[in-house]
Amino acid sequence: MDVSALKGRRIVVGVAGGIAAYKACELVRELGRAGAEVRVAMTESARQFVTPLTFQALSGHPVLTDYFDPSQEGNFGHLDLARWAEAFVVAPATADLLARVRAGMANDAVTTSLLAFRGPVVLAPAMNVAMWDNAMTQENVAALLAHARFSFVGPGAGLLACGDVGEGRLAEVPAIVAGVAARFAPGPLAGKRVLLTAGPTREFLDPVRFISNPSTGKMGLALAHAARALGASVTVVLGPVGAVDRAGLEVVDVVSAEDMAREVLGRVGEADVFIATAAVSDWRPETRAAQKVKKGAASGPETLKLVRTPDVLAEASRKVAGQARRPVLVGFAAETERVLEHAREKLERKGLDAIVANDVTAPGAGFGTDTNRVTVLTRAGSPRELQGTKDAVARGILELLLVEQRPANG
Ligand code: CTP
Repeated sequence: MDVSALKGRRIVVGVAGGIAAYKACELVRELGRAGAEVRVAMTESARQFVTPLTFQALSGHPVLTDYFDPSQEGNFGHLDLARWAEAFVVAPATADLLARVRAGMANDAVTTSLLAFRGPVVLAPAMNVAMWDNAMTQENVAALLAHARFSFVGPGAGLLACGDVGEGRLAEVPAIVAGVAARFAPGPLAGKRVLLTAGPTREFLDPVRFISNPSTGKMGLALAHAARALGASVTVVLGPVGAVDRAGLEVVDVVSAEDMAREVLGRVGEADVFIATAAVSDWRPETRAAQKVKKGAASGPETLKLVRTPDVLAEASRKVAGQARRPVLVGFAAETERVLEHAREKLERKGLDAIVANDVTAPGAGFGTDTNRVTVLTRAGSPRELQGTKDAVARGILELLLVEQRPANG
């Protein structure tokens, strides 16, 4: 069973009150083993069977049990859980829980988070056979299945805890794990390795001073997450940007242009796609003083000797030029004038397949903004404009370059 799709995924396990609740412990462990990050929500009655402490130990996170408890809500409440999750699995899903989910009720930690959640939900029912067979339960199941968001795993048939024989057993844990993995169906970039640079670089002249630029890495990280959502495995060589969402990404932190070049050149040969979004500092101080430089007595202008840093993208392009299967190379061009002309020149000079040009002086574009307006230039096709949030522009760029017109070597 291939559960690699679960790697780095954020999954909530909702536990309802049934004798099979103990099996949810194994489910949490197995999801974790498959590389998923798991958080748990429990109903009041689930706590009659297993303690929250057990799930806290297995998941490594506090468990949401009471949405009226201010300490829980203040920390990571039901809305945080719903926003955080990429998939929700309820195991065991009792007859009562199915009825409440179907009715859109929100009266415990599991159903409140579930009602606020927009993504895929996997339900693993477990109950007495008569309860499962009951027309009310079957109607609830049918009604939930009418929504594409909901899928079921099990129940299985066999000897039930109550002594009856028939359908109602919680599905085996590996089957539930596979059911969750299936909800992350491989996207169009499944199996592709995408390498990106993002953020600024810092070029220190002494231990406390550096040359840099205002890049926040937002566009690069939006592309990284969009590529991940399309199924790619993604590595980001990231300059200093502070706290960002790293979920599902392999992030290599770097500081200077030289660090960035080294990390990229060590990886680009293996990549299927390389996208350079970093705002690499083009110069660095010629020397870096070991101690803080003192101002001294001079009051006139002083000079700082600069030397050029490596062009990460151009070096990566040169490195893979002779490769039989070379990655698709995509650059960015941040310009303040004659945007398309400069961008096309960079496309040629750096040997790229495409370049994303943006006029950083335009309103709603450029450094630190949440929106962007770009023109995508390829060698053959006509220029295409994209505009919107950085997330939407990121998806648009990937669809345009990697999904719509499959690259020759893809
Ligand atoms: N780039 C890079 N390493 C550098 C400079 C740029 O990898 N030292 C990459 C950027 O990530 C971007 C592309 O090259 O994908 C173009 O960057 P840009 O700063 O617009 O252009 P430069 O080549 O630096 O040219 P100029 O500053 O003269 O406009």
